[in-house]
Amino acid sequence: MNKAIDPALMHAAEVTGSQVAMDAHWMPFTANRQFKKAPRLLVKAQGMHYWDVDGRQVLDAAAGLWCVNAGHSRPRIVKAIQDQAAEMDFAPAFQMGHPKAFELAERVAAIAPAGMNRVFFTNSGSEAVETALKMAIAYHRVRGEGSRTRLIGRERGYHGVNFGGISVGGIVANRKHFGSLLTGVDHIRHTHDPARNAFTRGLPAHGAELADDLERLVALHDASTIAAVIVEPVAGSTGVLMPPQGYLKRLREICDKHGILLIFDEVITGFGRTGSAFAAQTFDVMPDLMTCAKGITSGTVPMGAVIARQPIHDVFMNGPEHLIEFFHGYTYSAHPLACAAGIATLDVYAEEGLLTRAKELDGYFADAVHSLKGEPNVIDIRNLGLIGGIELAPMVGEPTKRAFNIFLDCWAQGVLVRTTGDIVALSPPLIVEKSQIDQIVDTLRAAIRRAA
Ligand SMILES: Cc1ncc(COP(=O)(O)O)c(C=O)c1O
Repeated sequence: MNKAIDPALMHAAEVTGSQVAMDAHWMPFTANRQFKKAPRLLVKAQGMHYWDVDGRQVLDAAAGLWCVNAGHSRPRIVKAIQDQAAEMDFAPAFQMGHPKAFELAERVAAIAPAGMNRVFFTNSGSEAVETALKMAIAYHRVRGEGSRTRLIGRERGYHGVNFGGISVGGIVANRKHFGSLLTGVDHIRHTHDPARNAFTRGLPAHGAELADDLERLVALHDASTIAAVIVEPVAGSTGVLMPPQGYLKRLREICDKHGILLIFDEVITGFGRTGSAFAAQTFDVMPDLMTCAKGITSGTVPMGAVIARQPIHDVFMNGPEHLIEFFHGYTYSAHPLACAAGIATLDVYAEEGLLTRAKELDGYFADAVHSLKGEPNVIDIRNLGLIGGIELAPMVGEPTKRAFNIFLDCWAQGVLVRTTGDIVALSPPLIVEKSQIDQIVDTLRAAIRRAA
C-alpha cells in the first residue's frame, strides 16, 4: 500500500493526525500530535523562501535550522551535488580517500583562524561534538597526561543530542530523561544576566568575570583531571545568548594557565553567521578545537567537522606509520556528496562575500529587532551579526506557549521563525535583503501583539 501523502489531500480540512500517512514518522524535536493535527509541510525552496503544500510562499527567517546560509537551492551547489552523485556516489572513508575530501579540508582550513588547519569530517554537529570531546581526552593521553579525562561544559549549553553532547550540555529537557549520562563532567555557570544586560545591542557589558567560574572547578577537581572546556561562542538553542565583553578571552586565559583545551562549538556560528567565517575571528579568541556543521554545506547535505590546531593533530602523528593514530570515524565521514556540496558552498560564500555580510547588515538588523522593544511581553532583545533573540514573558502556568503561538502566527502570515522556550530566534540566510528583514520584524511585531 502506498503510504505517501497525496499533496492534494493536504488541502483537505479533514487531513488530521488520524490519517495513516503521517503515523510512521516519529518526528524529531517536534510536538508530534500537534503537528499531525495541523501539518506544516514544506515542498519547495528557493533563495530566501519556502513554499508549502498549498503553494504558499514563506520567508525563511531561520535559515532552515540555522544552516542554509547561502540561501536555498542555489544552482551552483545543486549542480555540484548532482554531478558528484553521477560521477562517484560513495568512497570508503577508512584507509581510502577521494580528492574532494582533501580539497574541502584545505578550503575550510584556509578560512579558519590561522593555525587551525587540521579538519576531521563528521556528518552532523552532534557527531562533531562527540569527535572533539574524544579528541581532547585522547590528545592528553597520547602526550602522557592520561589523568586529564574530565570534560567541562556550561549551564544552558547545547552541543547536540548524543551522550557526550547532552552530558556537557546544560539544557535540562535534553538531559533529564536519559539517565546518568557521562561521568566526569561538570559545568561552569551560564552568562545570561538580564538584570544587568537586558536589551543590549551586541555584546553585553557585564559578565566577563563569569569565566572565573572555571577557576572554581579547577579548585574542586584539580587541573590535572580536566581535559577540555566546551562552550558555544554564541549560545543558540538555549535562547540566543551573547558572550559578555571579554568573557571568551578570559576563558582562554584560564584554560592556558591550567593546560585545559578550549573547544568552541561553532555549529551555528560557523560560516558567516556573526560577520566572520567563524565566531573565533569575530571575538578574536582562538580555541584549540572548533566544531562546525550546518553552514559547511549550507544545509544541503549532512556534514560536520572538527577543526583542530595543528599541534594537537601532530601529537597523534607518532608511533609506527602503519598504525591508525585516532580510532574514530564514521562510514560517511567526508562523503563525496557532502564534499562536493561543501566546495560549491564555499565558492558561493566567497563570490558573494557572504561570510562577512552579517557584519555589513549588523546595524540594520540590530535596529530592526530592537524596534520590538516596548511591544507587549517583550522582556529582552539580543543581537549580533544576523542573529536575533526576542525573549518574551511566559504565559502564566504555560511556559513556551506564548512563543509557540507566535511561531504559528508568523507561519500563518508567511514567515518561518524558530522558537526555543519563550524566545524567538532569528537567523535568516546570509543573502537576506533589508526589505526582508523589515518583513520579518513587521510580521513578528504583529504576532507579538496578537499573542498579548
Ligand atoms: C551549538 C550546537 N552544537 C551542536 C548542534 C547539533 O548539531 P546537529 O543537529 O547537526 O547534530 C547544534 C544544533 O543546532 C548546535 O546549535
